[in-house]
Amino acid sequence: MKIFLDTANLESIKKFNDMGLLDGITTNPSLLSKEGGDPASMMKSITDIINGDVSLEVVSTNYDGMIQEGRDLRKYGSNVVVKVPMTPDGLKACKTLTSEGIPVNVTLIFSANQALLAAKSGAKYVSPFIGRLDDIGQNGMSLIEDIAKIFPMYDFETEILVASIRHPIHVVEAAKIGADVVTLPPAVLDKMLRHPLTDIGLKNFLADWEKLKEQNLGTK
Ligand code: E4P
Repeated sequence: MKIFLDTANLESIKKFNDMGLLDGITTNPSLLSKEGGDPASMMKSITDIINGDVSLEVVSTNYDGMIQEGRDLRKYGSNVVVKVPMTPDGLKACKTLTSEGIPVNVTLIFSANQALLAAKSGAKYVSPFIGRLDDIGQNGMSLIEDIAKIFPMYDFETEILVASIRHPIHVVEAAKIGADVVTLPPAVLDKMLRHPLTDIGLKNFLADWEKLKEQNLGTK
């Protein structure tokens, strides 16, 4: 399963990329807005740092605007995947950009039917938002199960990119289902690499080593 980081924060991107954990990045207008600063320079920096797909989202809502923006976003790097919303214009833009060789991530997916249609339009990725479904009392992960059952029955090459992940258990569940990609907020990735028994074990190893050193000093 590929791991993407769901952020525009350059410090976090560098930190986890240096650990060899990142296969790509997803951004959206809210994540860029959270960082502040010049979005153009942030997007360029991210595409330069990451050796993998970087999703950059259009803000136009009509077909012509999405096409123009998509082509412009792609100029930031050959690893740019253009993110379009799951709307009629978004699907039309998905088909056109895909036919031009520009990969597309269809975002804001909340049903298996939406995922199916985005795949038919040629999307490289579909992004079902599981946390936001959980937030309204639905089961986000069962949507991933449905999509993962449907896609292999047909000829789609579209990958399931599990988005709106809120905690590490979501990641384990997505992995057990066989999702292609999870995109994680930095805080979730940070939690995944920690365990209290690791910290206690390391503390004890180091304390025992100190004891051994003191014993050896005593015998000299
Ligand atoms: C990723 O592509 C999405 O934009 C993101 O995961 C949305 O997450 P949120 O529901 O926490 O905003």
